[in-house]
Amino acid sequence: MKASWIIDQDIPVPKRWEPMTLTAAMRLAVSEAFKGAGFTEPNPLVGCVVLDSQNRFLSRGFHRKIGGAHAEVEALKNLSAQDLKGAKVIVTLEPCAHEGRTGSCAKMLASLGVDEVVFGLIDPNPKVSGQGVQILKAAGKKVSSFIPFAGIDYCFEGDVSWTQARIESWRSILEQTCEHFLVNQAQKRAFVSLKVASSLDGQMALQSGESQWITSPMCRQEGHYLRAFHQATLVGSKTLIMDDPQLNVRHPEFPNFKNKAVVLNQSGEILKSSNNQKLFAAHDPEDIYVVVGESSGVRNSEAAQVLVAPEGAGGLQLKSVFELLFQAGINSVLVEGGARVLGQCLEQGLADRLYLFQAPILMGSSFGRSWSEGLHISRMSEKITLRNQIVKRFGPDIMITGRLTMSKA
Ligand SMILES: NC(=O)c1ccc[n+]([C@@H]2O[C@H](COP(=O)([O-])OP(=O)(O)OC[C@H]3O[C@@H](n4cnc5c(N)ncnc54)[C@H](OP(=O)(O)O)[C@@H]3O)[C@@H](O)[C@H]2O)c1
Repeated sequence: MKASWIIDQDIPVPKRWEPMTLTAAMRLAVSEAFKGAGFTEPNPLVGCVVLDSQNRFLSRGFHRKIGGAHAEVEALKNLSAQDLKGAKVIVTLEPCAHEGRTGSCAKMLASLGVDEVVFGLIDPNPKVSGQGVQILKAAGKKVSSFIPFAGIDYCFEGDVSWTQARIESWRSILEQTCEHFLVNQAQKRAFVSLKVASSLDGQMALQSGESQWITSPMCRQEGHYLRAFHQATLVGSKTLIMDDPQLNVRHPEFPNFKNKAVVLNQSGEILKSSNNQKLFAAHDPEDIYVVVGESSGVRNSEAAQVLVAPEGAGGLQLKSVFELLFQAGINSVLVEGGARVLGQCLEQGLADRLYLFQAPILMGSSFGRSWSEGLHISRMSEKITLRNQIVKRFGPDIMITGRLTMSKA
């Protein structure tokens, strides 16, 4: 997910002293946050903007990479004590309260001359949640939230132009900025995105297994961006065998980028023929995870990391798979197929976001395979809805993305 996908464009950085509204500053902070995409997990994407006492732009920053400086530190690093007198810090997520790989941002801000902190979302991490706000308030700083939260001053209180619809739109933008992190914290499992390339009539392959290529090279480039944006790309064993994908990242913005690959294979058989698959040549063994069933008896391999998951009627139990991946340090997974795996993710209520790339072609359903063929809906009340949709054009193709709301699971 790129900032330009949710706020229409990447916001140009203003000149120093240029006047800015709070809303423009938060849009810039969101745009900044996405510059860290692919490098921050398990941390969230966070962006920050600093305005002076007259609401003029001073600086901006973002969390660049795991273990690196947080967005607030990046934004403040070149400002003098004079600059900070009466300054306003606008940040997409509540400043952190705890000391981890880096110091506490709330304590750092509390010790400086800044006057006010406006934050986007409360950090759901129990080590922070509301405590960042408390630290700042205890130091006498004005703290307000950009969208309403119970018990916290809301910076647009009384401004009638902030309708409920506008508040909800901003809540969605802020949540999308750190959605992987929000699901990790709440559900202790990897965030799951489904990525599909399909025809207009919903087919993702022919029954013969042929599926290359449905969409244009421009779409496929975006697919590589999405691989970098997620810590791992996952496929079922049939896709591995039929398509022989590398599942690595080949994108100009991410040179020499190392992602992880996951294959679902109950029996663990694919490990025997790993020499024949491009995937095993494209990644180091520690970056490949083959998830096998308990009944397989397979427990380790030289070719890949082996994760053992419980089994059910549909194959491996996917909730356990995404919990195991989270425990292994994988916070977000891009599921690329095939139809059976995609269908099972939907059936088991384990798909957070859909990225559907649709080409202006028809493949027919007689010899085609629908990407949702594994999803069984018998009543309209069970339908799955795409929330907060965004539609983008890539050359001749369109991409639609949104959060999946399961009424079935
Ligand atoms: N257009 C696209 O975007 C796209 C993308 C990818 C693939 N494809 C096409 O999709 C086709 C392959 O799809 P497919 O449906 O036949 O197979 P698949 O989804 O790639 O793989 C399914 C296999 O994964 C294993 N598996 C283990 N646990 C599972 C679970 N909980 N849910 C689902 N599968 C589980 C099973 O094999 P084991 O018995 O080995 O465990 C199962 O047979 C190929 O033709 C490929 O070209 C198209």
